[in-house]
Amino acid sequence: MRVSVIGCGSLGAVHAAAMASLGHDVVGIDVDEAKVAKLTAGEAPFFEPGLTETLQAGLASGRLRFSTDYADIADAVVHFIGVGTPQSRDGDGADLTYVDAAMASLRPHLRHGMLVAGKSTVPVGTAARLAGEIADTGARLAWNPEFLREGYAVKDTVDPDRLVYGVADATHDEDVALLDEVYASIIERSTPRIVTDYATAELVKVSANAFLATKISFINAMAEIAETTGADVTTLADAIGHDTRIGRKFLNAGVGFGGGCLPKDIRAFTARAEEIGNGESVAFLKQVDQINLRRRQRLVDIVTESFDGDATDRRIAVLGLAFKPDSDDIRDSPALEVAARLHELGADVVAYDPEAIPNASRTHPQLGYADSLASALTGAEAVVLVTEWRQFRNLDPEQTAELVARRSIFDGRNVLDPAEWRSADWTYRALGRA
Ligand code: UGA
Repeated sequence: MRVSVIGCGSLGAVHAAAMASLGHDVVGIDVDEAKVAKLTAGEAPFFEPGLTETLQAGLASGRLRFSTDYADIADAVVHFIGVGTPQSRDGDGADLTYVDAAMASLRPHLRHGMLVAGKSTVPVGTAARLAGEIADTGARLAWNPEFLREGYAVKDTVDPDRLVYGVADATHDEDVALLDEVYASIIERSTPRIVTDYATAELVKVSANAFLATKISFINAMAEIAETTGADVTTLADAIGHDTRIGRKFLNAGVGFGGGCLPKDIRAFTARAEEIGNGESVAFLKQVDQINLRRRQRLVDIVTESFDGDATDRRIAVLGLAFKPDSDDIRDSPALEVAARLHELGADVVAYDPEAIPNASRTHPQLGYADSLASALTGAEAVVLVTEWRQFRNLDPEQTAELVARRSIFDGRNVLDPAEWRSADWTYRALGRA
């Protein structure tokens, strides 16, 4: 099938490469010439495991190309919209500038028989508005949200746990048939496929992210209570997680959630709910956001306490900058914020991350960066683990002790074994644990 993907960021670039790997003829469009040049050269513009290989295979097959020119999409039958919907500069709502710009550029090329399939995360009501705006072209619109996780983006795109199609009219079989043709190989594996209306499809996406964010903030709220009562939040999570109605996933307490999705999506959902008169229904999401942001400060506080309240000139190794492992994404990263706050308190911060230093040093040039884990640890008076990369989880307490100036470790993700570190004479502190 001939398809186009408008927007080649963390969603669109992956979607374009993944669609080519499913056998489709794909053109990816982006307004950013440098990004298009990189993609055309087979280089992923951001760190995502498996993306480079998938891109290069697609380019070599001749079924994948990238362009800045919308005229190149003329032959495509399905046009995916995969542009970003960041938080507005002046409020909590989603900024739809990129969606509207993509639709405006696409419009002259639309004609009868084509389907525009929105993948971007949008406020409920957006699909209906956009469908109205293109109705006169004869093209139709579906909302087909994406549930990929960074770090697993290629796998999640070619092997999703469900497909959701929001269509204008549940009886309009042509739109469903076009999407079924795109996802034929996925559907063959009996992947659940839900066909619904626009509003439900839009809400599936934001409510899924709101639920995940709530689950994380729930366990982080328990971490706050555990800190006061001497309880252990990790044991608590294990114990409640055995209840299959609750489940252990997304119950890892620590510095909380970040990234380009969960934080801005719960804020945009709250803003949209207020606009439509349902503010009370999701008012709890403000608490979810606040609990999440409090954990960053809590970690900074316990590190500072270990220096009797004054971290000035103390050398602190911050392990991790990305919002999660296997990503170089620093958008709303708890790790980067912890590093920045410690720096503001006068600490001599030396941060290390296997992938995110180029991005972090652009936005936070004031921080110190190490070119290796060992050099970050050397001479450190406190080690603060904030992104659980494998090499940090696997740190050996004895070997680490040989590098640092003081055996003091802060486990911001609850991934180390406290007994192992304490038995090697470390002072081990974590969030939500005695
Ligand atoms: C999230 C959703 O998981 C995807 O399903 C969704 O498609 C995506 O947003 C999106 O809207 O595009 P992602 O942002 O890649 O995916 O990251 P997650 O794996 O959800 O992690 C989000 C944050 O929560 C990370 O900072 C992570 O460290 C944190 N987290 C996760 C916890 O603090 N505790 C946990 O138990 C799990």
